[in-house]
Amino acid sequence: MSFFELHRHSDFWEKPEVFDPDRFAPENKKDFSNYYFPFGAGPRMCIGNNFAMYEMIMTVASVVKKYKLSSQSSEIVLNPMLTLKPSEALIKFDERQT
Ligand code: HEM
Repeated sequence: MSFFELHRHSDFWEKPEVFDPDRFAPENKKDFSNYYFPFGAGPRMCIGNNFAMYEMIMTVASVVKKYKLSSQSSEIVLNPMLTLKPSEALIKFDERQT
């Protein structure tokens, strides 16, 4: 199954292309838990699930603490390899003044 398609399917998600982290708030869990499988499901589900989530939170937090990120482009071209990669996504890092 394509998780990419499932996670953007308009039958299951309201405004699927909109970046809306609040859709994943704990109080909305019943709305998305049947259609959201970033780490697979069942007996072969990803064993790195919790590790990956903590790693991402710590990495993003330490980067945005030091830098303000911005992009000139409004659209990101996707490059589907073994994992889904962005292509031509140029991001500018401005060091934050402390
Ligand atoms: C954002 C990061 C990650 C994503 C989105 C991800 C996603 C997935 C998915 C979709 C599967 C297939 C699950 C299934 O067949 O139902 C999987 C399997 C697996 N993942 Fe991850 N993963 C991530 C990070 C990691 C990390 C950090 C590790 C190890 C430290 C890891 C180890 C594994 C292993 C060993 C399997 C195979 C489990 C099995 O077949 O029994 N993954 N992952």
